[in-house]
Amino acid sequence: MARQSGGFHAGRPEAPAPPPPGLAARVAAARAIAEAVTASRSLDERLAPDPSQAKGGLDARDRALARSIATVALRRLGTIRKALARRLEKGMPKRGGPLEWTLVAAAAQILFLDIPDHAAVDLAVKATRAEPSSAPFAALANAVLRALARDREDILASSDPLEDDTPAWLAQRWRSAYGESAAGAIALAHRSEPTLDLSVKSDPAGWAEKLGGLALPTGSVRLDTHAPVAELEGYGDGEWWVQDAAAALPARLLRPASGMRIVDLCAAPGGKAAELAWAGADLTAVDRSAERLKLLAANFARLSLRSQVVVADALAFDAPPFDAVLLDAPCSATGTIRRHPDVAWIKRPGDLAPLVKLQTALIDKAIALARPKGLIVYCVCSLEPEESEAQIAAVLRRNPDVRRLAIAAEEIGGLAECVTPSGDLRTLPCHLWGDNPRRSGLDGFFAARLVKDGA
Ligand SMILES: C[S@@+](CC[C@H](N)C(=O)[O-])C[C@H]1O[C@@H](n2cnc3c(N)ncnc32)[C@H](O)[C@@H]1O
Repeated sequence: MARQSGGFHAGRPEAPAPPPPGLAARVAAARAIAEAVTASRSLDERLAPDPSQAKGGLDARDRALARSIATVALRRLGTIRKALARRLEKGMPKRGGPLEWTLVAAAAQILFLDIPDHAAVDLAVKATRAEPSSAPFAALANAVLRALARDREDILASSDPLEDDTPAWLAQRWRSAYGESAAGAIALAHRSEPTLDLSVKSDPAGWAEKLGGLALPTGSVRLDTHAPVAELEGYGDGEWWVQDAAAALPARLLRPASGMRIVDLCAAPGGKAAELAWAGADLTAVDRSAERLKLLAANFARLSLRSQVVVADALAFDAPPFDAVLLDAPCSATGTIRRHPDVAWIKRPGDLAPLVKLQTALIDKAIALARPKGLIVYCVCSLEPEESEAQIAAVLRRNPDVRRLAIAAEEIGGLAECVTPSGDLRTLPCHLWGDNPRRSGLDGFFAARLVKDGA
């Protein structure tokens, strides 16, 4: 036991008692949730999966635990907040400091993780006591969390994915873009943990068998493992790279082939660029982020692939015309919420307009960089029509020498549900759904293929 301060020590002062095991992970999870919701800071920033980028001095086990608590808390934030609000007679105390986030992190453990209730409650009460601002509410925290554990079944049964766990502005947008039923299916898909999808250099069926996964009709290999990626067979030998099955579709729409001159204008960290280089293209990979291009270089080194790498703002990049241009534009990323539930709470409605403006300028630049009869693929990992369907409608209106080259279902593994009536690619998180949610779904992606007229 730590000695009370203020007394006199006969001998050497005692070291303070170490914090109870697991407390640091809970405190880090609560902070990460708070910073995502109140400061738009991503979980990757706070709890990077890569230890070399991690902040906050947690060991690998605590960091992994903190990340899984924070991830599920953000995935189910609406359900958790509603359940807490109904059990706090006077509402969340205004001067409770980190109390709200400590309770959210504890509720995530009680409702959604395989952690004993008593451990979740006990550590939350200790975390509450450890902060002077929340300490007066320790008894309240204890009572509320016990009530939550007692009512778990009711809370889960009465929770609606679109109403409760989707920010209202996004729910409204998806209803008007896709209809009530598809919006509900998207929100339901966001509840499950995402798959680990691999783009393999060759032999998807063989790799699926070796890794205990599934060979998808699109050619990706799908796993539901939690094993560290670098420990899986084939990683060190550069036989595959991690990429959502939907993200693996746009690059192939350029029909890359040996010697074809292709520029990837927003290339880092390089999932799509790797596909183009593996097909033998003479590839130029442009990105304005030198940091992210370092990841591309490391991926290419592991995969033994080559490309010219250019750190530049694509809007200022110039070169002789290319046979094909890939533009995987910066976007709201609302198609990746299942993989990154923090995105739902980090993004704000006001974020869209500047992104749409940048995408418009980048599309015009992409068209300018393509040779006559050259192909351009524009894609975004967004569910928002302004960043996808509406962008293409506007491009076609303002560029009479550009046409859409419709995508056929056969080009994307026969996924007819993912081709729009206009011939664009539109994947939703609820697509490619099977009996097992852990092996189902796709990132929400949009891609359109354009061709430049000319001699
Ligand atoms: C969606 S990510 C690209 C993902 C990448 N294509 C892949 O498959 O791994 C968008 C990228 O655009 C880059 N970016 C944003 N604005 C840019 C600009 N004006 N010029 C060049 N790159 C830009 C970002 O740094 C980011 O790496």
